[in-house]
Amino acid sequence: MQLTKQEQKMLDGAEGYAVQKSMEILTALGEIFGAKSLIKVGSVQVAGVSYHNLGDAGLEFLNELAKDGKVKVLTTLNPAGMDLENWQQLGISPEFAEKQNLVIEAFERMGILVSCTCTPYLIGNLPLYGEHLAWSESSAVTFANSVLGAKTNREGGPSALAAAFIGKTPCYGLHLDENRVPDIHVQVNAEIRKLSDWGALGFAIGKKAENKIPFITGIKSVDLDELKSFCASVVTYGAKPLFYMKGVTPGAELQAQPKETITIEQTDITNAYDTINDDVSGIELVCVGCPHCSINEIAKVAELLKGKTVAEGTEFWVATSRNVKQLADKRGYTQVIEAAGAKFACDTCMAVAPLKGRFKSLATTSAKGCFYSRQNNMKTKMGSIEECVDSAVTGKWNS
Ligand code: F3S
Repeated sequence: MQLTKQEQKMLDGAEGYAVQKSMEILTALGEIFGAKSLIKVGSVQVAGVSYHNLGDAGLEFLNELAKDGKVKVLTTLNPAGMDLENWQQLGISPEFAEKQNLVIEAFERMGILVSCTCTPYLIGNLPLYGEHLAWSESSAVTFANSVLGAKTNREGGPSALAAAFIGKTPCYGLHLDENRVPDIHVQVNAEIRKLSDWGALGFAIGKKAENKIPFITGIKSVDLDELKSFCASVVTYGAKPLFYMKGVTPGAELQAQPKETITIEQTDITNAYDTINDDVSGIELVCVGCPHCSINEIAKVAELLKGKTVAEGTEFWVATSRNVKQLADKRGYTQVIEAAGAKFACDTCMAVAPLKGRFKSLATTSAKGCFYSRQNNMKTKMGSIEECVDSAVTGKWNS
């Protein structure tokens, strides 16, 4: 890989340990993937924030980098293993909280914004069309590439962090236009009505597209919440973190429709629900907010929960970023939701919090949430926000 004089100096250690280590990571990656050079990035989003996933070795690595490392571009964090303020309420142990706080302190010393969310585009980390990024979280990467038209590979935690210290990333993969060409046409003939249908659609396309770049036609209308749900699902279940949706993705009209065509019929959506949903009726955890809730989704939860009470033996988590929760506070939604006995889970989510063994069953709007919760040995049900609120209030899945 061709380095500039300045980059070579950084690799030789002229700017300290964190920069040198980062250059070692980026040049190694660049060599592996055949990058010719580094390219400037507009922002970074770092995954690998939960102490649950990092452990002591990860914490030690971060502390070493934090000794002299300072980020050069806007950098935000993926969800952590707990709500950084109300962790006790969510049943997190003091021992875990202590370690998680050390992780967060290390990131803060690096100059990173402690905005632990998988929807950075809702809180000020909003890329431009064509902008190069180094983002990590799969749903956010897919959203950036496919809804915003930015360009990012799906970075690992260390490579994203390295890009933050350098302000650059190796130019390969989805940074290059020749690798962003759609290679399968997906005609959607199914009716997609409620939020969870978008998760089911993502499942169906992800399974059929198998690591290809879909060019999707047949979508009549879609909103931001539906797109973030679809992005999370389609990449979890198999597609590349880039799709073109006619009428949605900027630049889709410049791409030729691929010859290979598949269709998505109503039976594919039904099959997706059948595969994602387990045979379970009692619900111990309800979680809305995967990806993290927008203010619109929180407003809907508040409207549905008003005057009701979450059933005994069931917990209801509303996962969101702290910034969006502050809007909910101002609008009075928080008060309504908490009065019903539901809890906000800011800064965290059901996939990265240490939940294994705590809950046996989950109801959620999210296909991705079901995928990861099964790894935590939970039985899962996926449905609309209405169905999730109903299951929280009754303690059962009633659909
Ligand atoms: Fe976000 Fe966690 Fe879902 S990172 S996309 S809420 S699994």
